[in-house]
Amino acid sequence: MQTARELEVLRKAVDALRGDGATIALVPTMGALHEGHLTLMREARRTADHVVASIFVNPRQFGEGEDFDAYPRQLARDSELLEKEGVALLWAPQPQEVYPQGYATNISVAGVSEGLCGGDRPGHFDGVATVVCKLFNQVRPDIAFFGEKDWQQLAVIRRMARDLDLTQPHVDAIRGVPIVREKDGLAMSSRNAYLSREQREQAGALPRAMRDAIAVLSEGGEAERPLGNLREVLQVSGFDSVDYAELRDADSLEPLEKDNGNARLFVAARIGGTRLIDNMAVE
Ligand code: PAJ
Repeated sequence: MQTARELEVLRKAVDALRGDGATIALVPTMGALHEGHLTLMREARRTADHVVASIFVNPRQFGEGEDFDAYPRQLARDSELLEKEGVALLWAPQPQEVYPQGYATNISVAGVSEGLCGGDRPGHFDGVATVVCKLFNQVRPDIAFFGEKDWQQLAVIRRMARDLDLTQPHVDAIRGVPIVREKDGLAMSSRNAYLSREQREQAGALPRAMRDAIAVLSEGGEAERPLGNLREVLQVSGFDSVDYAELRDADSLEPLEKDNGNARLFVAARIGGTRLIDNMAVE
């Protein structure tokens, strides 16, 4: 596996991989890789000739007082994991390669970025859209893989890719991969490393409470009561607060009062200083 840290090196390496028309899949990450990330790498390998992974802890998507400084950075370990997955090229840019002196451009996707995480973390999805757009322009992949763990992020990126012609028309270029979970159901996340042993145990209540709410929601009644119960269960289980617990249309992300046949439950909750998110289909 080759590692590029400057844009010039990246461009040459991508050109060499592309050769006479090989396909390239991009998997953007912020590192501290776990099975969720590695599943994206495997899907990408199955689908394209070569995989380019990126690791960049993107300052623009962290708000003030968020965990940018504390975010785990472990490039040597991550490189080994990517190598084992057969990733051809790692793009691990220096910050100035992404945001050069005087950088002034922002990408903002309306609609799907409003509410949920966009409501709690102002500017977060602008930061995500901006860096992902840059990564597309730097690597120029045929397809790219993102996790359904960050469902709203996936919706924002799909909208942006269509609006800005980032990928070939009529190609299903932005691929979503189902959430990879721990044994107790907790969605894997680099942020789970912040949890103490006790908090980690308590965190298992999140997917359990969501599944219980889904069982009720799938009967078609009003969402208000099961969502209220879910909030209570989380607080009793050791969560400090619930940022949101909402039912929305899986595609448009329009808020729903009850299941419309395409509904998804979205939750963000805090345990200690750690914010956990999850989403599940109402089936
Ligand atoms: P990061 O949190 O590192 O996640 C990188 C990719 O892995 C995202 O597409 C995310 O949805 C996916 N992922 C994380 N946990 C997962 C899990 N348990 N199951 C399935 N997929 C999972 O998301 C970001 O980085 C950044 O916002 C990024 C897109 C790289 C832009 O900076």
